[in-house]
Order: sequence, then structure tokens, then C-alpha cells
Amino acid sequence: MFIDFNKIPSPCYVIDETLLRNNLNLIKKGKEAAPIQILVAFKAFSNWGVFPIFKEYGFGASASSLNEARLAFEELGVKAHTYSPAYEEKTIPDVLKFSSHISFNSMGQFRKYANIASQQGVSMGLRVNPEFSDTAFDIYNPCKPGSRFGITAEQLGNDLPQGVEGFHFHTLFEADSFALERLLAVFLDKFGKFLPRLKWVNMGGGHLISKKDYDISHLIHLLKDFKNRYGVQIILEPGSAFTYKTGYLVSTVLDIVENSGIKTAVLDVSFTCHMPDCLEMPYKPVILGATDEQAGKPTYRMGGVSCLAGDFIGNWSFEKELKPGDRIIFDDMIHYTTVKTTMFNGVSHPSIGLWTGKWGFKLIKDFSYHDYKNRL
Ligand SMILES: Cc1ncc(COP(=O)(O)O)c(C=O)c1O
Repeated sequence: MFIDFNKIPSPCYVIDETLLRNNLNLIKKGKEAAPIQILVAFKAFSNWGVFPIFKEYGFGASASSLNEARLAFEELGVKAHTYSPAYEEKTIPDVLKFSSHISFNSMGQFRKYANIASQQGVSMGLRVNPEFSDTAFDIYNPCKPGSRFGITAEQLGNDLPQGVEGFHFHTLFEADSFALERLLAVFLDKFGKFLPRLKWVNMGGGHLISKKDYDISHLIHLLKDFKNRYGVQIILEPGSAFTYKTGYLVSTVLDIVENSGIKTAVLDVSFTCHMPDCLEMPYKPVILGATDEQAGKPTYRMGGVSCLAGDFIGNWSFEKELKPGDRIIFDDMIHYTTVKTTMFNGVSHPSIGLWTGKWGFKLIKDFSYHDYKNRL
């Protein structure tokens, strides 16, 4: 859909409703064809202003904290499937109040909270660690030796504790269905013997179902086969897949500076505050209308408005020289962005809005000095 970026205030995260609904429809089709339960992992996206759209599609919620579980209950109208590396005594009663399922990361945590969870009628699971991950990025690999995530097959031994109804594992990152197939083979080899005693298996996130070329029919075939063989309820909890390529971060050039022959466009946004994965992964985002560096074309680094020296990424080439006031539109800036922003340096937080086919731009939230002051 055509978006008139000049009608959007800068800076602003803007979600394209049409693109969002395309992803939601696709994931819903997969959910119904398998059939399995699919949860939205709030850690990737929890902009509850657009949850009324999500509600139309009947997804559940995956929470990793009390706050996410409560938000699922209050704004999506569902009890969450909750997993946290550790729960606290002071908050576990509320975590359970807002959860239908809870997964424990260690036998110690299970033993500590099993009684209270079963008294509250919450279905209990264990996070298991298959010690297998395809991801090339260590920061997203929960299966590296020394990982703090999940119980290994060796630690679990041969006895499943009384009361455990499910297993939860998460090892994939932006993966296809063939990575899941390889993972399932390892999981079955290590933990398959327990399946006859389980009600559910949560296969975590990292399934980038909405990526072009993702083979959904292979995924459906895989999950149907698993369900037929083992008779358990299958749960997936992707995060990125819901909001992958569904919107932009709109920014504006404030100044152009030059040092040692390098031109930097200083923007009204910041990589460290507003696009942190670009620095953490790291990766170079797409800018609409720009390309990777091309000889002979006006070429710039994009610099953030914070004072962190490393708050820049380079280089992009443009058709024309940039000047203050020009718009710079970063693509695919919805998942793992708004949930991770900071107000470091007191920099302005971008507004959040929705571009709808019917009404054009709709502001969902903007931020002021009070948001900065109230945080601290
Ligand atoms: C336990 C768990 N579930 C689900 C997800 C969502 O993963 P993704 O957004 O890659 O689909 C994550 C991401 O870190 C996770 O740790």
C-alpha cells in the first residue's frame, strides 16, 4: 500500500495495517491447517494499541515476565503461557494468576513452585535444552555449552516428576521449517521417551513463517506427523514472524557533518536507543530509496542523535545529496524495536502509529518529557 511518509510525524514507528494483516492471515492459516496453538511472543512485540487487530485472529500469548502475562490478560483477553529463566517468590502468585501454562527452567524452580502452581490449576511444564541449535549468532543461541536455559537430557535422567504436563524448548532463530525438522529429530532422540506422559509440547519461537519462501506446507506436514505419532498438543510461540516486515521507523536528517572524508547524516533517531539489534547482532537495515555504497553516488553514514561514539551505521548511497529536513525511512523496524527502546541521553522517543488503508495515519502513542522523567 502507498504510504505518504510526509503525513507522518518524525520520528515515528509506523505499522502498516495491511502488511500486519497479511502476516496474521498467513500464520492463522498455518495454525488451522496443522492444527496447533500459536502464541504471540510478547518479547518481540507488545504494542497493545494494535491488539484489537490481533484479537480478530484468535492467537494466544507467550509471556516471559509478570508484566507481559498481565498485559496478555488485560489487553489480549487471554491467560499467558509463561516461561522465565527464574521466578521470584514475591511475584509468583500473580504470574500464576495471569497464566494458563507455566514452564520452569530448572528442577530447583519446579520443586520450589510446583505446589502453588498445581493448587492454582496452572498446567506445568519444564523447559528442556536439546543442546542443538542451527543459529550462527551466539547471542541468539540458548544451547551453547554453559547456557543458563533449560534442563538437559542428562540432568532430567529417566524420571519425569509428578505433575509435569508439558515440555518447552526454544532454540531456533529466524529459522525455516527444515531447521525445525532437524531440531525435532534431536529432541525426539533425547526426550521422546517422555512424550506418552505429556499433554503438550511448546516448540518455542524462531519460526519465521512470514518470510518469503518459508515452506508452510512443509511445516504443516511436520507438525501433523508429530501430532499423529505422539498425540500431544503442539504449541509454537513465534515473535518476529507476526510483525516481520510490517512497518518502518520514520526519521529526519538534522545535520550533515564531515570528518576524514566521511559524511554522516545526523538523524533524529538513534541506533542504540531505537534500533538496538542493528548494533547488537549486528546488521545493516534497509533504507527505502537507498542502496549499499555505490561509487560515484552521494554516500553517507547514518548517525544517531545520542552521544555514544558507536551510534552509527554506514554506508548507504542515495540518488541525490542529503540535506537537513530529508526523510530517512528504515524498513522492517517493528519487531524487537519498540519493546527494547531506551531514553538514553534523554533522546526523544519516536511516536508510534498505524497506517490504515481507510484513514491513513493514526497516532497510537507519543512521548514527552514526563515519560523520560517518570522512568527514573
Ligand atoms: C522462549 C522464547 N520463546 C519465543 C521467542 C520468540 O522468538 P522469535 O521472535 O525469534 O520468533 C523467544 C525469543 O528469544 C524466546 O526466548
